[in-house]
Amino acid sequence: MTAEPHVARNYAPLDVTIATADGAWATDVEGRRYLDMLAGYSALNFGHRNQTLVKAATDQLQRATLTSRAFRSDQLEPFAAALAQLCGKDLVLPMNTGAEAVETGIKVARAWGYRVKGIPEDRAKIVVAHNNFHGRTTTIVGFSSDEEARADFGPFAPGFTAVPFGDADAIEAAIDDDTAAVLLEPIQGEAGIIVPPEGYLARVREITRERGVLFIADEIQSGLGRTGTTFACDREGVEPDLFLLGKALGGGIVPVSAVVANEDVLGVIEPGQHGSTFGGNPLAAAVGHAVVDMLATGEWQERARLLGEHLAGRLEALVGHGVTAVRTVGLWAGVDIDPAVGTGREVGERLLARGVLVKDTHGQTIRLAPPLTIRATELDWAVEQLEVVLGR
Ligand SMILES: Cc1ncc(COP(=O)(O)O)c(C=O)c1O
Repeated sequence: MTAEPHVARNYAPLDVTIATADGAWATDVEGRRYLDMLAGYSALNFGHRNQTLVKAATDQLQRATLTSRAFRSDQLEPFAAALAQLCGKDLVLPMNTGAEAVETGIKVARAWGYRVKGIPEDRAKIVVAHNNFHGRTTTIVGFSSDEEARADFGPFAPGFTAVPFGDADAIEAAIDDDTAAVLLEPIQGEAGIIVPPEGYLARVREITRERGVLFIADEIQSGLGRTGTTFACDREGVEPDLFLLGKALGGGIVPVSAVVANEDVLGVIEPGQHGSTFGGNPLAAAVGHAVVDMLATGEWQERARLLGEHLAGRLEALVGHGVTAVRTVGLWAGVDIDPAVGTGREVGERLLARGVLVKDTHGQTIRLAPPLTIRATELDWAVEQLEVVLGR
């Protein structure tokens, strides 16, 4: 008998049942405390129940929660204005989940391809990267290279070409007259925090600009402070045509996602061509606005950068001691576990027993993405627990 007999088995959670959470810590139903080193896959960048965000949510809960987009609310435009400014763009199309933002980005790019670029009907192509992770809808898993994500879910939508991640020449070679967009995670999160070679994003920007193709950056996991800058693209001074945002935009409270682009791109969508009942609802807009205001100060980005340097130093010392490789950027790390020590899942289970929550990915890797509110001493403690479970 599983602990959740009525829950469909599309996840295999670690054996812990969380009842409450605060900041970087979660408490289970038996009162045991755990340091959360996953932070809802970066959706909890500002910590559990961040009080600024809880206040924004509770204030709005007392005013209005849902209007639908059939009517305006007094929350959406101020949120959109603030988010557009953070991104240096004109327009925001609000949705709910990350996958919806990706789907929206695909629709916008195709519509732009036909209406602005002049691609012949039904021929628009989008170039993507191997080992991408953009969500779980049928279109998105259709261009995944992960067989587990795809198997038995076809037939899939055509119109995607996948090339190796990190290889700008391969992108250039894949682009033809029918190419509407290149869609990339600037750093591949789910793949194990894979950072592309320096200059890659800048080169992709150059190629897409020269060839009249949109550059869509999926910053759903990498964006909003995690990497030590507002966006991972900022690390190379790159401005994509479309930002896809989600996760932390909802402050870990409500699902909020968005596509952010300039008028010449996002302006192609007209009334009736796209939407969502909950997208841009007043509660989501109030929380998202508070998130954007927090990021506008730059303090969170700086905190991620400094704590990230600290974490990187600690983790790099583990290479050769139960760890085969470490990749870090900002407060985000992929740690490859030596198979002689165990699988990523087994290390996750052993860490759980010592009060640290992490998630494995692709067998041998554990991903660390703690809330940006975490303290350096807490990071040290988590690394000490990792040292113990690695048998150092
Ligand atoms: C880069 C990226 N894009 C899209 C998604 C999908 O987001 P959601 O799970 O909210 O649909 C994720 C989720 O992990 C992601 O990491």
